[in-house]
Amino acid sequence: MEGGWSGRGGFLLCLTASLLLQGRTNTFTINCSGFDQHGVDPVAFRTVFKQKDFRPVINYSIPTQVNISFTLSAILEVDAQLQLLTSFLWLDLTWNNPFISWDPEECGHINKLTVTTENLWLPDIFIVESMDVDHTMEGLSAYVTSDGHIVHSKPMRVTSICRLDIFYFPFDQQNCTFTFSSFLYTVENMLLGMEKEVWEIAATSRDIVSTQGQWELLGINKAKPNMSVGSSLFDQIMFYVAIRRRPRRYVINLLVPSSFLVVIDALSFFLPAESENRAPFKITLLLGYNVFLLMMNKLLPVSGTPLISVYFALCLSLMVVSLLETIFITYLLHLANTQPPSMPGWLHSLLLYCTSPKIFCPTAFWKENVGPELTPTHLPGLTEPRELVGKNLEPREADLNGDSGMTKTQLTNLWVQFSHMMDTFLFRLYLLFLASTIITVIVLWNS
Ligand SMILES: *[C@@H]1O[C@H](CO)[C@@H](O)[C@H](O)[C@H]1NC(C)=O
Ligand SMILES: *[C@@H]1O[C@H](CO)[C@@H](O)[C@H](O)[C@H]1NC(C)=O
Ligand SMILES: *[C@@H]1O[C@H](CO)[C@@H](O)[C@H](O)[C@H]1NC(C)=O
Ligand SMILES: *[C@@H]1O[C@H](CO)[C@@H](O)[C@H](O)[C@H]1NC(C)=O
Repeated sequence: MEGGWSGRGGFLLCLTASLLLQGRTNTFTINCSGFDQHGVDPVAFRTVFKQKDFRPVINYSIPTQVNISFTLSAILEVDAQLQLLTSFLWLDLTWNNPFISWDPEECGHINKLTVTTENLWLPDIFIVESMDVDHTMEGLSAYVTSDGHIVHSKPMRVTSICRLDIFYFPFDQQNCTFTFSSFLYTVENMLLGMEKEVWEIAATSRDIVSTQGQWELLGINKAKPNMSVGSSLFDQIMFYVAIRRRPRRYVINLLVPSSFLVVIDALSFFLPAESENRAPFKITLLLGYNVFLLMMNKLLPVSGTPLISVYFALCLSLMVVSLLETIFITYLLHLANTQPPSMPGWLHSLLLYCTSPKIFCPTAFWKENVGPELTPTHLPGLTEPRELVGKNLEPREADLNGDSGMTKTQLTNLWVQFSHMMDTFLFRLYLLFLASTIITVIVLWNS
């Protein structure tokens, strides 16, 4: 019994050894005769299919080289709040399976076959930034060539995390990273390579992506660092995907209307200060601007503080300030026309200095309006206040220090003149601030 057992054992050993030897020398050729007449015989592939659970290598010390390429076919969504980029890409993986090979001469020059991927070993390449499980569809096939080269393409919807910076919205560019790596195999078992040059990937992707959408693909670049997790080292390939927003929609819907409102607000300073329409006009504009902001709020990114929000806030503040200015001037005029307080000496001298013809002072703007026909009967009401300014100031009065020698009319004239001067001065300040705001914003956007 015992001898028989050992004899059988020896026989088995011999058989395995001879099989192994055969395997090493004469390969794993698939007998493909008849493929061209009766189709592929599944029996011929049985050994390959049985091995699909293991990495297909003859010597386990040799890492499998997997070459990667992809085509970015769409940028579906950029979510600034969650900092996610959702894109769609076709991933191409190629590797060698040394157990597959046949002689094309024997079988009517069949060089390439498709095999369903569930019968093959597949490398577990994933995108490190991906924040979603891989919903690759079932039942894909891969191309297998007669020398064991396998080409596997799969569509992927990738939701990847990306540091999005919306400060420059709507003129922003984003730079997202796709890091391809193996989930499981360390560098001893799997190496990654490029199937195509990166400029080829970028060019193909740009052609496809440029046809649609809000985002434009600027370029794809490559970097290749190793990733170490604990003591293991994983091979990985990193791509930088640079995308740019197409700003036209935002310029038309946000910047143009806002600019119009601000320009009208600036122009409303040309309504005479005595006119009762100026303040209501500005209030209407302010209301209009608020409604505009409310409606356009959904076009703005939800998170962060883009420059454009700051710009809108500044525009709104400018409008409020201009309304306050109008209230202030109206108050001054009212004061001047009802009970003008005594005028400090320095203010009087300043006014005189400014009204002298050679000096360029804010009042210059209203000088041509000056009319001497003023009568005191006009004065108490604001209904019909007129240009009251300074020609009837005479040098004799100019010498007077303080208002002791002035009539009420003269005092009123002085105050009205002062109001107009203030109005012009504040208007220039407003313009200066507006211009500097706009220039700053434009410079920032262009940087
Ligand atoms: C291949 O298989 C056919 C039958 O399907 C057989 O006749 C032929 O001898 C086989 N060739 C080899 C090299 O094993
Ligand atoms: C397997 O590969 C390693 C490294 O290339 C080599 O040292 C070793 O001899 C190989 N083993 C066989 C059985 O060929
Ligand atoms: C991968 O690419 C390298 C060159 O980049 C090449 O030498 C190698 O044969 C390729 N491997 C496969 C499986 O395509
Ligand atoms: C994207 O960012 C990386 C560093 O994070 C940088 O090396 C690369 O040049 C950037 N790409 C572009 C197009 O800005």
